[in-house]
Amino acid sequence: KFAVLGQYFHCPIKGDFEYAQQALIQVDNNGTIVSVMTEADADFHTQVSFFSSKNQLIELSSSQYLMPGMVDLHVHAPQFPQAGKGLDLPLYDWLQDYTFPLEAKFADMDFTKQIYPSLVKSLLANGTTSAVYFATIHKDSSVELARECLKQGQRGFVGKVNMDEASQCPPFYIEHSTADALKETEQFVQEVIGLEGNEQQLVSPVLTPRFVPSCTSEMLQGLGELAQKYQCHVQTHCSESDWARDYSQQMYGKTDAEIYRDFGLMTNRTILAHSIFLTPADHAIIKETGASIAHCPLSNMYFANAAMQSREILDNGLKCGLGSDLAGAPIPSIFHTCLDAVNHSRVREDGTSTYLPADTRGESGSRISFLESYWMATVGGGQAIDAKVGLFQPGFEFDALVVDTAVSDSNIFIIDEMDSAKDKLEKIITLNNRQNICKVWVKGQLVINK
Ligand code: GUN
Ligand code: FE
Repeated sequence: KFAVLGQYFHCPIKGDFEYAQQALIQVDNNGTIVSVMTEADADFHTQVSFFSSKNQLIELSSSQYLMPGMVDLHVHAPQFPQAGKGLDLPLYDWLQDYTFPLEAKFADMDFTKQIYPSLVKSLLANGTTSAVYFATIHKDSSVELARECLKQGQRGFVGKVNMDEASQCPPFYIEHSTADALKETEQFVQEVIGLEGNEQQLVSPVLTPRFVPSCTSEMLQGLGELAQKYQCHVQTHCSESDWARDYSQQMYGKTDAEIYRDFGLMTNRTILAHSIFLTPADHAIIKETGASIAHCPLSNMYFANAAMQSREILDNGLKCGLGSDLAGAPIPSIFHTCLDAVNHSRVREDGTSTYLPADTRGESGSRISFLESYWMATVGGGQAIDAKVGLFQPGFEFDALVVDTAVSDSNIFIIDEMDSAKDKLEKIITLNNRQNICKVWVKGQLVINK
């Protein structure tokens, strides 16, 4: 039980923000927020004195801002050592030449234990309190990632990847048989749920058909049945590139969203990475099922050869958060992804030109705002993982971070007399680095403390 006293930002309304200059946030022993008070509340000062007298008050300085923890909806954990390599290649070649040989190495538990602790640590240090992970096809190595999240106190959603389509997977990185893979996947689900120390379900299993090309229809069918049986999360890549989209059309005569729906894989706990080439019918399927989209703006710039319809997706009210897609984008920070999401939408947008007819240069009105991108990184991500995170409100989990704009190596430079609250928030969203993040809590546990 403790309370934090200081200023905070959050975004209860998409595209808008709320700032409190002096607030007291009380957190109970389960890591849940029990109250959020400001100086306007009658017993504010009594409560401050109470927590202070018990040594349970964490008081922020005037350069420190309490903010909700960031949610990364799409991380390829084994690709951490691949970050920054080969991004000039098209997706198919990148996967075959770099990704699959690297992921195959996670059959080795020593290699696994060399990589995953550093990755989880790096994400937490960058403020990612919830991460939705693709691991590899190996059950034990994937369970180890879940164990590592628990150990370091990160809210983790971990998937053992499924790949069994021989024409698309290299012989050195493919599951032995579809039936065995499904059995192992079910075991994986049970093992993660039952992990020692996971009584509060801080980590959850995720069913993870990699994408349509890597899976047989028997695999997709079997995973759909597991999704119904365990009501667990599902993640996959959806309409990510011309190549992947065309593959689905050739094999099934359907879009990815239609294929996943028909195999029972579209639920309100499904996260669709990318989702670039959505049809109006796909929008309807996603809305109806309550599935979510993980927008991965930088990865899209490398691999999609097309722009994300982020404006339309937000306006249509589809559930949408942000993903780093490490290593399809190299930077393990959702603050950075916020900036990428804005830039992505701006490059897509129309320019006015005296030399070109109207509407030949881009999509007018396609931009999204910094506040919208930050909303996706916090509230939108929380909705997608079906967790009460992303806001400072009673009943929400206390997943939070403290940004200190006055650390000696800060890129953020704030002048109180010149910067409005909105200016400050936009500076933090665009310029924040891991050195600015001095505290991180997940479910009330202090997991980074500098
Ligand atoms: N599509 C299928 N697998 C992958 C992957 O590992 N990364 C990305 N960016 N796209 C994929
Ligand atoms: Fe991906």
